[in-house]
Amino acid sequence: MKQGDKPVHGMWTSRWAFILAATGSAVGLGNIWKFPYFAGEYGGGAFVLVYLLCIALVGVPIMVAEVMLGRKGGMSPVHTMKKLAAESKVSRRWAGIGYMGALAGFLILSFYSVIAGWTLYYIWDMAQGGFQGISAAGSLAHFEGMQANAWLMLGCHTAFMILTMWVVARGVSRGLEKAVQVLMPLLFVLLIGLVVYASTTPGFAQGVNFMFHFDFSKLSGKAVMAALGQAFFTLSLGMGAIMVYGAYMPREVKDRRSGQARRVSIVSTVGIIALLDTLVALGAGLVIFPVVFSNGLEPSQGPGLLFVTLPLAFGQMPAGVIVGTVFFVLVMCSALSSSISLGEPMVAWLVERGLGRPLAAVAVGLTAWVIGIGTVLSFNYWKDVTFLVGTFFQNVDFLASSLMLPLGGMLIAIFAGWVMKETQARKELAMKSFGLYMVWRAVVRIVAPLAVAAVLLNALIGVLGGS
Ligand code: TRP
Repeated sequence: MKQGDKPVHGMWTSRWAFILAATGSAVGLGNIWKFPYFAGEYGGGAFVLVYLLCIALVGVPIMVAEVMLGRKGGMSPVHTMKKLAAESKVSRRWAGIGYMGALAGFLILSFYSVIAGWTLYYIWDMAQGGFQGISAAGSLAHFEGMQANAWLMLGCHTAFMILTMWVVARGVSRGLEKAVQVLMPLLFVLLIGLVVYASTTPGFAQGVNFMFHFDFSKLSGKAVMAALGQAFFTLSLGMGAIMVYGAYMPREVKDRRSGQARRVSIVSTVGIIALLDTLVALGAGLVIFPVVFSNGLEPSQGPGLLFVTLPLAFGQMPAGVIVGTVFFVLVMCSALSSSISLGEPMVAWLVERGLGRPLAAVAVGLTAWVIGIGTVLSFNYWKDVTFLVGTFFQNVDFLASSLMLPLGGMLIAIFAGWVMKETQARKELAMKSFGLYMVWRAVVRIVAPLAVAAVLLNALIGVLGGS
């Protein structure tokens, strides 16, 4: 396909459609479930600070690069990279970014669906008033009971995967674009309401202090690596999801008022997405940690943090049944708008190779579902089967999120900064401020690759050294 030909996958209908879809991809379990549990595990403030630095210094510039490459190539990451490599007269092996991304997508989707399945169960239980007046110990027992039940978890995992693939099969713009338009603002409003509620609980000051008191003695190499990995994870970077969304992004849109064609700026668009994503993560922390401290729970509780603390809060507040049910519905929807982007690079690639979209969706979903069974078992039968960094689930998460995403991001930065012709990148970005452009260029050429390389090396030494 030549540039300018009609794309096979369709396009976003407006700049806001892209912003919503990309925000939908970015905002998800990474913000509401993973960020607080990581912050709790790695000691709070220092982790939060490093995470914010990673978002601003590495995440945003790489996201700009990823959208830029995607829009220039206009296809799935594998074919986009092949095409751009040919244009720059370098080896087709750069398509490796696309292949590795597809693999990372499978791995993340496999456990993402399991955790999102928990939200399905919680919606059901919440709606029946199962958490009314529950104690901290009761909430913990409830969560552990669910984990011990492998069949229940498998059922929820299956249901969520079917939901994801159904949306992907229908094509993104018809179903999801519309749903996200309503659900995302609702999630914001509810989150703000919950932060206000949390501010009335006795543990609020302690919770805020935990998140924003920077105690660097708690910062380990592993924590820095987790922060960088989390920055990639939460912005959906490093595996082509944002690249393929960028491929569906128009270069110009008609201005609604004047009717004239207007260029769509990549940089300001990415800025909005990163800001919204960060606000949701911090908001989730500001709800969860006050509840933790008000109820004498441990912030370092691990993956259960969200699922133990929030039901407790909902069990105590007035109208908690309704608020709690709506909240978990919204979390589930934000997970759905993320999970579809995990499969999309792979599905787009299969579609370009001639497969029908529904069939491609089923193939991708089925594969990820099978890998996900390992994660289901990691919480019960295989709970004590640990190797390298922990259980099967922890290893898959670590391999994909902490290694493959940063590596993919680094290669994307190197390609955009060193391999691609400078004039091409500059033209596609069309930034108004030359100074800002030079900053971006310096980051993708030098800062981002060096930062990622340092963190990755540290990671490998840590794992291989057995620490
Ligand atoms: N960003 C999503 C979240 O925070 C998860 C996600 C969606 C993702 N697509 C991705 C992570 C691509 C890495 C790569 O929940």
